[in-house]
Amino acid sequence: MSTAWEFLFFCFCLLTVFGITLTPNGSGVVRVVVKEGSDAILPCSLNTKENAESKLFDWKKDGGKEVFFYDAGLHSNNGRPGQDQQFKGRVSHFQDELKFGNASIKIRNTKVTDSGDYTCDFPRLQPRQIFHIQLVVVGASPEPSVKTLNQTQDVALLQCEILGAFPKPTVEWQDSAGNKLPAEETQVSERGGSFYIILQTTVKKTDNYSCVATQEEIKHQIYAETYVFISEKLFVDTCSRGVVAGLFGGIFLGAVIFAAVQAFLVATKFITVRRNKGSREKRLSLRSCRAAVKKHSLID
Ligand SMILES: *[C@@H]1O[C@H](CO)[C@@H](O)[C@H](O)[C@H]1NC(C)=O
Repeated sequence: MSTAWEFLFFCFCLLTVFGITLTPNGSGVVRVVVKEGSDAILPCSLNTKENAESKLFDWKKDGGKEVFFYDAGLHSNNGRPGQDQQFKGRVSHFQDELKFGNASIKIRNTKVTDSGDYTCDFPRLQPRQIFHIQLVVVGASPEPSVKTLNQTQDVALLQCEILGAFPKPTVEWQDSAGNKLPAEETQVSERGGSFYIILQTTVKKTDNYSCVATQEEIKHQIYAETYVFISEKLFVDTCSRGVVAGLFGGIFLGAVIFAAVQAFLVATKFITVRRNKGSREKRLSLRSCRAAVKKHSLID
């Protein structure tokens, strides 16, 4: 049990440290996944482990491009011509490993365009041996670039731009609650093996909006936020209604007091013995006026 966990942990550490995944996926194809800019080791070892120092092996990409050629000591890095321009100065073999039948190569500073199917071929062996290795160079999406293109009193047009990512990310606009917003315009272009994506959306209310780019294959997600303030018609007439009510209330109260005074005068005139006692307390509670929300327009 504990040994199993230690083993898993060890594997995890290896994957984390080297960022390399080797996946023999049944079809005999080995898959190597690396991050753009890092080095990739493409494995190739003779089953017999026989010494390969005096043998011939040939690495090719996508069935044609010469990646690395080795023939009994003469190879692509010491005078053998024919290597594709794409790999000049970036590929090396492991001289000390050859005697164990290990013809692996290392590609330095990988580019997304290095992704593809590689073959390691021993054409003169009987039987001939060919190994297939799939290289996937991933370009994790950079942080999206977001901006407000245009804003009127009621709406704002937001734009999100992904400047190069591979594999192709899904990109979407979300409000602060995580709801996906309908996108109005999407432009997708591909340059140098990377995807460039532009996504626009129109929003109608104040919120924090995020543009989220997800690359499911490499479990990569990155987002950028932008705050948009859009004036909302909060100017409900609570204030003016209060004023009007107060005005009518005042007139009514005035009339009541006037009538009371008249009645008092009339009463004192005719009934002098009795004195007017008590006076009604009138309380006028003025509802506070809510501050009117002024119209603002804020552009990030
Ligand atoms: C072949 O050599 C490379 C580079 O040293 C190494 O990473 C790899 O594990 C070797 N393969 C085998 C099967 O020994």
